[in-house]
Amino acid sequence: MQSCTIVIFGATGDLSKKKLLPALYHLDAENRLTDDTRIICMGRREAAQDEWKQQVVEFVSPKARGGVDDEILNKFLDRVHYFKCDINDAFSYHELKKLVTKENGFPQNIVFYLSISPALFGVVGDQLAAVGMNKEDHGWRHLVVEKPFGFDQKSAEELETVLRKNFTEEQTYRIDHYLGKGTVQNIFVFRFANLLLEPLWNRNYIDHVQITHAEEQGVGGRAGYYNDSGALRDMIQSHLMQVMALVAMEPPADLDDESLRDEKVKVLKAIRPITEDIVDQHAFRGQYAAGEVNGKPEPGYLEDEEVPNDSVTETYAAMKIYIDNWRWRGVPFYLRTGKCMPESKAMIAIRFKKPPQELFKDTKIGDSHANWIVMGLQPDNTLRIELQAKQPGLELKSHTVALETVESDKNKHRLDAYEALILDAIQGDRSLFLRSDEVNLAWKVVDPVLNKWAKDKDFIHTYPAGTWGPEEVSRIQDDSCHLWRNNV
Ligand code: BG6
Repeated sequence: MQSCTIVIFGATGDLSKKKLLPALYHLDAENRLTDDTRIICMGRREAAQDEWKQQVVEFVSPKARGGVDDEILNKFLDRVHYFKCDINDAFSYHELKKLVTKENGFPQNIVFYLSISPALFGVVGDQLAAVGMNKEDHGWRHLVVEKPFGFDQKSAEELETVLRKNFTEEQTYRIDHYLGKGTVQNIFVFRFANLLLEPLWNRNYIDHVQITHAEEQGVGGRAGYYNDSGALRDMIQSHLMQVMALVAMEPPADLDDESLRDEKVKVLKAIRPITEDIVDQHAFRGQYAAGEVNGKPEPGYLEDEEVPNDSVTETYAAMKIYIDNWRWRGVPFYLRTGKCMPESKAMIAIRFKKPPQELFKDTKIGDSHANWIVMGLQPDNTLRIELQAKQPGLELKSHTVALETVESDKNKHRLDAYEALILDAIQGDRSLFLRSDEVNLAWKVVDPVLNKWAKDKDFIHTYPAGTWGPEEVSRIQDDSCHLWRNNV
């Protein structure tokens, strides 16, 4: 464990209230913070220390696993310090520098957590550099940044230039909270801790792969952000492409953070470009109309006050991706995400090819069935391997049987992704953070789709809230056996 000072820019914002402060509290409860670790919460408004601590109690208490523990909470509050900061004003940074000294009891290793709009990354970086706080003379500096990392490939590159001015790539920790989920890390363990799967994990045996992320919720109060983003940017370019890279990557040479990220980059580099003229064969978008989710009426996306009534922003997006390497050439990877779906779940479904010979064709077994491996990522961590077996009895009939594990996460081990990620950012382990080339390559894949959709302003398919998205999505599916599987 390393002592450090954690400086949260945007500490009064939503992410900090809902995720960062509760995650830090839990790390404290698990004894993962050294006794001298301090947390500086930067906010625009004036607040007395006691007033802020009272607010921290309100943020943390409802999230505390198994209820809040007063002793741990008090210990946690002792670490917390509110700091009024005008992000654009040099004076604030001079004051910050004066505060964060050894004499004042602040460890000299610093995590700067930028939970603010990317448009402000440059100002914060420049101001920190102006007072020399980006220098690692007396301790390390880790800069944690939240998505969105740009709006397309070009703006992502511009953002990189802004970050690079004052911090190196080695100091930069780009968060993709999916990589902090234990169930997503399990893809890696499942693949590389079991010899059984490796011989089958390729184009010779796998017919296609489906990666699904569905949410019951609509855009809620986030329409302002969402309408400029859309599902493809919000989920596919980031989280789902990362999940795909973990499913498709080669085993890394070791567990070093760069080895792992190198392998993910190789996958992203091997993706067959989807040029604008073939976008319709590879990508599909939809928008929810009024409907019912779990028996509750849900207004359509366009009914949201913040959404312009001619918006064609997608709340559902699906893509077909080919990875042209030795392992995967010819195997489609289907990625889809949607808001206002019937259930909230994320899963990977891998369909195998059928046996080469229809041995049972003329028996009661009939045509062969394909095997599936299905991994549920949320709400539960599940693994299901489907096989065919003879039904008991005199007849030669078969049925599908499954080997299944369900690790329900409802107990005290339900960790939030942010706990793992903040801990890694403190410890300097970058394996679960995105490297700039990963971000860049992921944009390269989706950019032509985004460009085409930006031009097609007149029409978008709709689906009633509470359904699995427009049926017309089947136009991107290469074969009738590629229909979506909705259940683990
Ligand atoms: C975020 C997106 O990154 O991920 C949200 O901005 C989305 O729109 C969320 O709802 C999904 O995350 P999770 O962990 O709830 O699946």
